[in-house]
Amino acid sequence: MAIDHEVETTGLVGWIDRRFPMTSTWKKHVSEYYAPKNFNFWYFFGSLALLVLVNQIVTGIFLTMNYKPDSTLAFASVEYIMREVPWGWLIRYMHSTGASMFFVVVYLHMFRGLMYGSYRKPRELVWVFGCAIFLCLMAEAFFGYLLPWGQMSFWGAQVIVNLFSAIPFIGPDLSLWIRGDYVVSDVTLNRFFAFHVIAIPLVLIGLVVAHLVALHEVGSNNPDGIEIKAKKGPDGIPLDGIPFHPYYSVHDFMGVSVFLIIFAAIIFFAPEMGGYFLEANNFIPANPLQTPQEIAPVWYFTAFYAMLRATTDPFKIVLMIIVALLGLYSLVRARGKWKLGLPVLAVLVVLAMAFTESKFWGVVVMGGAVISLFFLPWLDRSPVKSIRYRPFFHKVFYGIFVLAFLTLGFLGTKPPSPASTLIAQICALIYFAFFLGMPVWTRLGTFKQPPERVRFKPH
Ligand code: HEM
Repeated sequence: MAIDHEVETTGLVGWIDRRFPMTSTWKKHVSEYYAPKNFNFWYFFGSLALLVLVNQIVTGIFLTMNYKPDSTLAFASVEYIMREVPWGWLIRYMHSTGASMFFVVVYLHMFRGLMYGSYRKPRELVWVFGCAIFLCLMAEAFFGYLLPWGQMSFWGAQVIVNLFSAIPFIGPDLSLWIRGDYVVSDVTLNRFFAFHVIAIPLVLIGLVVAHLVALHEVGSNNPDGIEIKAKKGPDGIPLDGIPFHPYYSVHDFMGVSVFLIIFAAIIFFAPEMGGYFLEANNFIPANPLQTPQEIAPVWYFTAFYAMLRATTDPFKIVLMIIVALLGLYSLVRARGKWKLGLPVLAVLVVLAMAFTESKFWGVVVMGGAVISLFFLPWLDRSPVKSIRYRPFFHKVFYGIFVLAFLTLGFLGTKPPSPASTLIAQICALIYFAFFLGMPVWTRLGTFKQPPERVRFKPH
């Protein structure tokens, strides 16, 4: 039975409700949205991501009031905001710290989804919208980073846009088209500004709305990974559900309070975070004639950057052997219409790899690492959703995966050496093996029977 959201018929609220779905929307999405009662620590990060999104938009608007998107003025305008504009330093630090905290919160939010199988049926679209948000967030951070027009802004953009030139045939023209000039210049700054302040935020907000609408259509998952809608009372309300408001609004308020304390502590005491949130080189104005000693992206990109750097010529050969073996395996195992499709594809990929430079495959590996996330709902074949009821070795695999990702993140912040390149290559292989092997390993082992009702300790 569907829940009927009753609405006001009298007074001002009634007047509005007869013309606009105000009360029914509030009830459907807030006061009568029934969320599982066993949410834990990991469920704070969705609302925190919303908070950081609002923080970025509001502080961004105020920064735009004094920022100048002009290569001769941009750097000085940021200094002006920091030194002359009343409270400008606070607004700027809230925005720069907010960017890093956005990724902290979103990485933890994604990890929660991974642990509890929140991407599985019927939440595939919640996850897919989430992955699209993650892509947009990366684009947003990349475009924003050029704006202060410091050394790292300039050379970071130069390196990343140049990657596109590795694409066969169209590459050089494509990177020229993206920059709008032969080098990163005023033209590039203007278009990155347009993307950063309006185009990407619009898409991001649209995707966040879609993410939440999709979630509320199917209902939230929970740490036990069981569907609370399967057990409803006579009133149509899930027996293990509680209204989001006031229960989780109060719960999230607590999370927000703790988060704001940490956020404020960083802003006031360590806004540069030892060079991880704001890099030292970016306090030097962009100089197209002087390349910095080391060009490293901000920490949230370093895991993917390490995969890019790890794709050397010898590693390309390892990848070719792996693709060839997978092709052979699919030839032996294939049934029906796919019989020759996958092996032929594997042969084509190996040939393409042989005739193109490893830099291009580095870009493919880096992009593939993000794109793989989209397929998670269809790769995981485990009979249970939550990690709680999976075999012990699954937990070990999750642990190794997280360790490999963190190691890549760390290595990406350091200059490469032969040893660190080898470690990054091993970690990249672990990263892809985790996802590509999922259809096989997630079915193996002895699973525990999940409970009929959610596990909940009143506190
Ligand atoms: C701007 C960024 C994002 C915002 C504002 C956001 C917001 C939210 C909110 C408010 C919830 C409900 C509360 C909760 O379950 O924590 C949620 C749930 C969820 N989000 Fe996000 N999210 C963002 C990014 C992402 C990303 C990048 C992914 C994954 C790639 C993702 C995957 C999910 C999933 C699977 C759920 C359902 C969780 C469950 O029911 O167990 N989200 N999100």
